[in-house]
Amino acid sequence: MTIKTLCKSSSEVALVSIRDEMSNTGTAGATIPNSVIEAWSSLPADVRAVLVSTELSSSKISPTRGSSVTLSSMESSCSIDSLSRSEEEKSSSKSSSDEREEFYEECPHTGAKMIMKPLERAPKNVFEFTKTSTLEKVQVEKSPSSVTTTKTTVVTSGRGWRNVFSLPISYDVNMVPHGTLLDPANPQLLEATGVHPEGYNRRFAAIDDAVYKIYGDKILNYFSAKGIELTTVILKGGEDDKRSVAVDKLLDEMCVYKLRRREPFLAIGGGVLLDIAGLAACMYRRGVPFVRVPTTLLAIVDASVGVKNGVDYCCNVTDETYKNRVGSFYAPSSCLLDNSFIASQDRRNVSNGFGEILKLALVRSSDLFELLETHGAALVESRFATTSTVPDGVSDRIIDLSIQIMLEELGPNLWEKKLERCVDYGHTFSKLLEMVPGADIMHGEAVNVDGFFCCVLSHLRGYITMDIVKRVFECMKSLSLPTNSSSLESKLAWQSCHDAIEHRNGEMRIPLITDIGETLCVSDITPDELDRALELMKQFPHEKMNPAGLPW
Ligand SMILES: NC(=O)c1ccc[n+]([C@@H]2O[C@H](COP(=O)([O-])OP(=O)(O)OC[C@H]3O[C@@H](n4cnc5c(N)ncnc54)[C@H](O)[C@@H]3O)[C@@H](O)[C@H]2O)c1
Ligand SMILES: [Zn+2]
Repeated sequence: MTIKTLCKSSSEVALVSIRDEMSNTGTAGATIPNSVIEAWSSLPADVRAVLVSTELSSSKISPTRGSSVTLSSMESSCSIDSLSRSEEEKSSSKSSSDEREEFYEECPHTGAKMIMKPLERAPKNVFEFTKTSTLEKVQVEKSPSSVTTTKTTVVTSGRGWRNVFSLPISYDVNMVPHGTLLDPANPQLLEATGVHPEGYNRRFAAIDDAVYKIYGDKILNYFSAKGIELTTVILKGGEDDKRSVAVDKLLDEMCVYKLRRREPFLAIGGGVLLDIAGLAACMYRRGVPFVRVPTTLLAIVDASVGVKNGVDYCCNVTDETYKNRVGSFYAPSSCLLDNSFIASQDRRNVSNGFGEILKLALVRSSDLFELLETHGAALVESRFATTSTVPDGVSDRIIDLSIQIMLEELGPNLWEKKLERCVDYGHTFSKLLEMVPGADIMHGEAVNVDGFFCCVLSHLRGYITMDIVKRVFECMKSLSLPTNSSSLESKLAWQSCHDAIEHRNGEMRIPLITDIGETLCVSDITPDELDRALELMKQFPHEKMNPAGLPW
């Protein structure tokens, strides 16, 4: 006997009279076998109560509705707008004793049945529910003369409340006219930190140390020219200092400053500073607004445009450090992008930024790839400035295209619910490459080595021709990016695949290219395949030394 039968038939015992009264159809209840009544009586009273109330509700709702409205119990982000129904439907589902409308839901994963009722004072957000789950077990016992099959049905019930709230996320990524952000004539920097009550004449800024050395006077001058007292916290840039201790330092200074709950602060620096500041912003008073001012090419096209932040984490138990292991999704209130900051970066850091740009080209845009092939080398030399060899508008076009692609990919998937992301290209093997103790490799560089390795994997699978692999290789070299690393060997590669499975919830989901600008994700890479790709990697004429004269 299935619980469905049991539930339906038995609860009819309780429902027959109610139904007859309600419908006036005169239909008598079905004859119920004794076995069903016995099984019904054996259930605990609270379970019977839930079953009856489920039956009551579905018998009340279903006929008027045609199809049931579904709120996914697994997805707390479910929009309540999807629950809205016509006035006619609403009125027909109200019971005489309880004016609140009800919604019926069946969990697609567990089959649990829920009845949801909005609370009177928060009808769009808070629902009280009763939930019934059934689990059926079949046991087969064989003896020489017979086979006995026993079906056991376990019914569990529960009640509770569901709170549903969609976070409103909206932030502007502003392109500031080249070189004007720190000009007191430009109000953008001041205005980005918000409209404030009278007397609000202070600002708080977290600033990268290298940036402060170069632009500190200009920053201080900008605010003093506007009669604003600026309090600064200087934090070190660079991967080595991307740790929770930096977040703590910033939080300490926020406490000393008594940063108010709605008082936006400025984060000025490269990707490391922005990631640290974003995490502190998310934590201080459980969230304060912050404005990103990226100062590196990488941060302009990548770290500043999404909603992620975080720091590397050293586990006290394993004593291993994990890249970006601790962080959050937390949107800035806005971003101010002035490309002129790139001019003070050194050559290696500009190349490093190209690592992320080339990744975007490989996965999404052959146009961007062609721009890099043609102008990339000259732009590394000129630090992104227009020169006789780089036509006007090219550098802006490269940055615009990169940001647009990035936002198109991140925008609809901000919380990374979808784990197959083409922007994860180059971010599978790079994480461990970056974390090799003593490794002198920057983020964009590691992404590039990973990106080239993935091109080779693609080729071995027959997704791309050797001509494409060579074209990508030449482009990477023209951007002064490393294409291989002495740390990229069999064990690290296979460990990276395991880490990918952990990070991407059970599957590798490694993006590979099928052409320039096209991708697919694979989850079935084998150790043997990795070894063959590593062997093929060795055939290419890689640059042997990094800019510091160390082997890549
Ligand atoms: N949150 C995200 O979505 C996201 C995306 C991509 C990368 N990231 C993170 O970004 C980091 C890499 O960012 P990065 O390459 O900007 O590194 P970085 O912030 O360490 O900056 C590189 C170096 O340049 C210095 N610097 C910064 N601006 C300068 C300027 N205008 N002139 C001269 N020197 C300057 C810094 O002090 C640092 O020494 C990585 O930690 C990576 O994980 C985050
Ligand atoms: Zn990255």
